[in-house]
Amino acid sequence: LSVVVLSGGLSHEREVSLRSGRRLSAALRSVGLTLDEWDVDSALLDRLRTHRPDAVVVALHGVEGEGGSVQTVLEMLDVPYVGSDSHACRRAWDKPTAKTELARAGLATPDWVVLPHSTFRELGAKLVLDAMVERLGLPMMLKPDQGGSALGAQVVWDAADLPAAMVGCLAYGETVLAERYVAGVEVAVAVVEGADGPVALPAVEISPESGIYDYTARYTAGLTNFHRPARLDPAAATAVADLAVEAHRLLGLRDVSRTDAIVAPDGTVYFLEVNSSPGLTETSLLPMAAEVAGRSLGDIYTGLIERAVT
Ligand code: DAL
Ligand code: MG
Repeated sequence: LSVVVLSGGLSHEREVSLRSGRRLSAALRSVGLTLDEWDVDSALLDRLRTHRPDAVVVALHGVEGEGGSVQTVLEMLDVPYVGSDSHACRRAWDKPTAKTELARAGLATPDWVVLPHSTFRELGAKLVLDAMVERLGLPMMLKPDQGGSALGAQVVWDAADLPAAMVGCLAYGETVLAERYVAGVEVAVAVVEGADGPVALPAVEISPESGIYDYTARYTAGLTNFHRPARLDPAAATAVADLAVEAHRLLGLRDVSRTDAIVAPDGTVYFLEVNSSPGLTETSLLPMAAEVAGRSLGDIYTGLIERAVT
């Protein structure tokens, strides 16, 4: 079987993806698989045509890997691959789309407003910022509507900080997703598909030293405490597992995903987002969850490769 692991690419999450790719490749080799590792660039299409691998594993993050572009290429060439199809990737990658789908299905997600850059130009920045505070209250979360690894994401505590935070967020994209801030326990729940369909791995609880799970807190060992499994009562543990499987199903995701959520003090579980290509770095959440479940990354992804080629 010729297997290729794709990582790198040109998104803001290039470095993260290279780390995911290295870890995944090592895990697959440790269970006896031989594979090639490709750093994705504009030669991808040609390389795929020439080499025609039996299966591709997408360890890309950011717009190419999670926004569906690489999946579109793989579909055009009929190359089997691990992970969600291009259509499902697009729906999960666009946070407002994912929130809308889940809210429509009756699941809780923090109240939100989508603000394209043009809103400010056309309607007057001051009026829009005031309306945001009125609608969502403070603190509020700002995120690029598409993106990962918390790049451009900000917590705004004070209305006076809102304009600068908006500019910081818009540096990563054209459109801002502003959300009501929900205090509670932050958890990540990975879902892996097997013979019995999608199954949630144990939730991992995220507790950054600084209080904010930003890029640095994500990828610097020691800056975040992870409780694995999350310290949830049985009802909450079931609720977050159900939410992650629901999100995976509702968005039509395949093979693997990771849902990020908040458990509020009243027990409500709020959906934040779902990742179609979860990070696999040394500090990433899916590998931790796999360890708690007593499963190796190599076994999980070998299983998914088998699913892709059959
Ligand atoms: N976007 C990063 C890779 C993650 O969610 O793990
Ligand atoms: Mg994400």
